[in-house]
Amino acid sequence: MDVFNAIRTRRTIRDFTDAPVSDAVLHKILQAARWAPSSSNTQPWHFIAVRDADTIKRLGEICTQGSFIGKSQVAIAVVMGETRRPQLDAGRALQQMELVAWSEGLGTCFVGIRGEQQDEVKSLLGIPEDMELITVLPFGYRIMREPGTGTPRKPMSEITHGEKFGQALTFAD
Ligand SMILES: Cc1cc2nc3c(=O)[nH]c(=O)nc-3n(C[C@H](O)[C@H](O)[C@H](O)COP(=O)(O)O)c2cc1C
Repeated sequence: MDVFNAIRTRRTIRDFTDAPVSDAVLHKILQAARWAPSSSNTQPWHFIAVRDADTIKRLGEICTQGSFIGKSQVAIAVVMGETRRPQLDAGRALQQMELVAWSEGLGTCFVGIRGEQQDEVKSLLGIPEDMELITVLPFGYRIMREPGTGTPRKPMSEITHGEKFGQALTFAD
């Protein structure tokens, strides 16, 4: 799958088959994260790959915005150490993982984890207190309940500008 095709077809997936994710595929997803760019190349990230079924089930119970984690085959917790821009650096790695996973037939969904849930996940996975838990990404072979073009996007004309803000950007073709 070429890069743009992966970007264009990717959708958030909240349902997964029972098919196992091989070590080779998991390794490739983590390599995609490892090769992501980061501010001053600090690489402030850690990725905890959870394959234990009981832990995955518990993560689904804790994360109320991502109960579907419980249906995944592998969950990857993204944890950031000391860095000036944790969200930006993490975002680059997350997207690379998502796209590589998509090209392999898998799907995932960013799961927001707030407040007390953060503490519970950090305790469950042994994450040091001074590190920031960004998300837990569930991965599995995707089930698309609603085939189609996916979630809508704003029109190009609404989000792009030519030369100055508010001026229309035109294309030759
Ligand atoms: C920063 C961020 C946080 C999100 N948090 C959640 C979440 O907690 N639970 C959830 O089900 N989806 C979550 N999503 C998924 C979005 O709802 C989804 O990406 C958006 O609707 C666009 O759909 P698409 O990814 O299929 O293009 C999150 C996405 C992002 C980028």
